[in-house]
Amino acid sequence: MPPNDSAPIATAPEAGGPCILAIESSCDETAAAVLDGTRSLRSNAVHSQIDIHAEFGGVVPELASRSHILMIDRVVARALREANITLDDIRGVAVTQGPGLMGSLLVGIEYARALAWARNLPLAPVHHLEGHLYAPFVGLAEGSAEPGWPFVALVVSGGHTALYHAKSPGVYEELGRTLDDAAGEAFDKVSKHVGLGYPGGAIIDKLSVQGDAEVFAFPRPMMRSKDFHFSFSGIKTSVAHALEKEPTTPEGQRLNDLAASFQRAVVEVLVHKTLRAADAVHVDRIVLSGGVASNKELRRTLQIEAAKEGKTVVLPPPALCTDNAAMIGAAGYARLYQSILANEGFAQPHLAARPSWPLGKRSPLQKPRQRGVRRGPKS
Ligand code: KG4
Ligand code: ZN
Repeated sequence: MPPNDSAPIATAPEAGGPCILAIESSCDETAAAVLDGTRSLRSNAVHSQIDIHAEFGGVVPELASRSHILMIDRVVARALREANITLDDIRGVAVTQGPGLMGSLLVGIEYARALAWARNLPLAPVHHLEGHLYAPFVGLAEGSAEPGWPFVALVVSGGHTALYHAKSPGVYEELGRTLDDAAGEAFDKVSKHVGLGYPGGAIIDKLSVQGDAEVFAFPRPMMRSKDFHFSFSGIKTSVAHALEKEPTTPEGQRLNDLAASFQRAVVEVLVHKTLRAADAVHVDRIVLSGGVASNKELRRTLQIEAAKEGKTVVLPPPALCTDNAAMIGAAGYARLYQSILANEGFAQPHLAARPSWPLGKRSPLQKPRQRGVRRGPKS
């Protein structure tokens, strides 16, 4: 059942429940994980395709799906081995149904469907972004805060940048999203522009530590708009203009300063909008997820600014921020658990990939307010 339409689901059990296998292949990571409770991770195998796509400066869909086909069986075998179990111990399968690249999604879906069919196991299709919302629920790192419901989630990656009001399990409202580039995409494009590698986020993050963020004045697009949407293509263009004015391609300290100034602009917008979105829905718990959530300055700034306002930030460890199957398993576990308890078997003869698939409904806060507009008599 798609998460958008599902009724709230009961909280799944802690460690020691039946083992499930989760599979994720929506973009350029082939991933499989074994969980035995929403928060109990037995293994988390991820094969990244960065080496394949790096020379093209971005993900090449055809190469991505070919690599998924080659790797998926090996990655699943690794997840089972590291969990110290065999397929006989698996009682249910969760798989990413969308959104993502069609060819990549199909590999994970068909693999999961064939496995579930052959072993008569229940299969739970999972929304990739719901998976990101569940990242902080996976194998809670010691000392990290309990996420709890409701919360506001900033999902920020190479393909997505959006704010959600996560009201309860399965009930989500989209508060806003990027109107052009995702934040990670902006990191990647800027990195490419200044001759750094792909993906650019982690490289810019590292250079920024040595840089002065006040040196270049980049804009903060839509920071003061009254909605919760984002726009990052303008910052990217400003970086290009700044580079044109430089006598030579910046390197050394100048490059560090450019990286730090760009990163500061992105982080300030993300943090500001997230805190205002939390205010708008009267929620004081914030979850940060997606590849860009590994960014050190974003993590630090959001925590500092949220603390000033008495809000709590829940940060998954970086390995669970980037794409992985553990988060897909955590999101699918409760639904699978109910099927396992009811002794249900395979019931998904057809499962279509959903490359574009919004998570939840749009929040009523997204409707533009029309102030001072009076309805006149019909003419
Ligand atoms: O979630 P993810 O693994 O894949 C999807 O895009 O769905 O995110 C990858 C993105 C890339 O754009 C990458 O540059 C960015 O996350 N990223 C970072 C950092 N680590 C990864 N961006 C900023 N700072 C980082 N430390
Ligand atoms: Zn993702």
